[in-house]
Amino acid sequence: MASLDRFRVVGGAHLRGEVTVTGAKNSVLKLMAASLLASGKTTITNVPEIADVNIMSDLLTRLGCSVEHKGSVLTIDVPETPGHRADYDLVRKMRASINVLGPLVARVGQAEVALPGGDAIGSRGLDFHIKGLETLGAKAHIEHGYVIAEAPNGLVGAAIELDFPSVGATENIMTAAVLANGVTTIDNAAREPDLVDLGEFLISMGAKIQGLGTPLITITGVTQLHPTTHATIADRIITGTWAFAAAMTRGDITIHGARAQDLELPLEKLASAGAIVTSTADGIRVRMDTRPQAIDVSTLPYPGFPTDLLPMVIALNAIADGHSLVTENVFESRFMFVNELIRLGAHISVDGHHASIDGVNELSGAPVEATDIRAGAGLILAALVSEGETTIDQAFHVDRGYPNFAEQLCQLGAQVSRE
Ligand code: UD1
Repeated sequence: MASLDRFRVVGGAHLRGEVTVTGAKNSVLKLMAASLLASGKTTITNVPEIADVNIMSDLLTRLGCSVEHKGSVLTIDVPETPGHRADYDLVRKMRASINVLGPLVARVGQAEVALPGGDAIGSRGLDFHIKGLETLGAKAHIEHGYVIAEAPNGLVGAAIELDFPSVGATENIMTAAVLANGVTTIDNAAREPDLVDLGEFLISMGAKIQGLGTPLITITGVTQLHPTTHATIADRIITGTWAFAAAMTRGDITIHGARAQDLELPLEKLASAGAIVTSTADGIRVRMDTRPQAIDVSTLPYPGFPTDLLPMVIALNAIADGHSLVTENVFESRFMFVNELIRLGAHISVDGHHASIDGVNELSGAPVEATDIRAGAGLILAALVSEGETTIDQAFHVDRGYPNFAEQLCQLGAQVSRE
């Protein structure tokens, strides 16, 4: 999976212009997995051109589906009886592969899904997913690196309470419960907009779901679902990345297709850093004329500040006026990339879940390395405000989440190339 590609960024530009937000990675991959719930042709539109969509397409193809991808439209033809095994060679490339678990157990009565393994942002357990499916009557265990789950006689609705509002666990339980016999409640459910998008997709397939976007989701099982057509929700993390890019580079970016309602807290934080955020006919505009003021941020499950924007907020604070404290509450460790920012001259110290940042006037370009998708994007933003040239190795991480990022940055006036 790793490639030798890197980004080369010459800092100093004020980003100005217009961008259009594509569909959300964290939604489309789940919609694709959930298409397994009904045989026949499901069509997903507003599909972003990212590497992870190709990985999920490969996985679905191996499960017996025919996947056709034309521009931003994806058609998935699901067979009467899909396969049930998701192999390690694909799962290891992308954690969202675990999202086939719930649909397969519900529809095929069995699933063998490789454990995704570690990640640069923490260990990311699967205990809530497995416990949830067991509560619905599946038998599940881990053997030879695979989660093996079986429910030959179908699943039975049950009351489930999550210890933490895990996005992935809520999704796997919801996509299993839609075909269970009876009513399932998920208490302390995740409320992320991407999850609401998945719920609406399931409803359009004939599922009965109430309480999406609230901590209590109620699902009344049905015996069969039908294929559907659905447009992927706009990517709030890409929107947020552009918003931070505008503020950090003292630029002016109009973001078409942005859903401000999914980003209330990050946009409020940007306003307190000095950015001018306004609504437009189909999105938002973010401008900044001055050096940003430092902002304190704690990440939390939605509607809290998204953990996926943590690298962007740390990058902004690295060049902001003042001292800030940024706390990560969702993942075990997300601060690995801080060492890379320090290579650019940032003054940051990390203590457990906290990063303490003293803003400097300017960063200075250096070779750095992306450690995950969002860290890679955060480093590119930092490179844009660094004097001189920065190279960011492991570009493939960024490709997993940001379609044509370098090209779009160039259109906004940045000097970014790929080599
Ligand atoms: C999803 C997103 C990711 C985002 C995250 C939180 C995708 C592909 N990824 O990840 O970009 O940062 O939501 O918004 O959509 N946990 C357990 N046991 C479990 C499940 C989770 O301990 O069974 C823990 C995790 O280790 C983590 C926390 O719960 O510390 C949150 O994880 P979760 O919400 O499940 O994130 P993902 O769905 O993996």
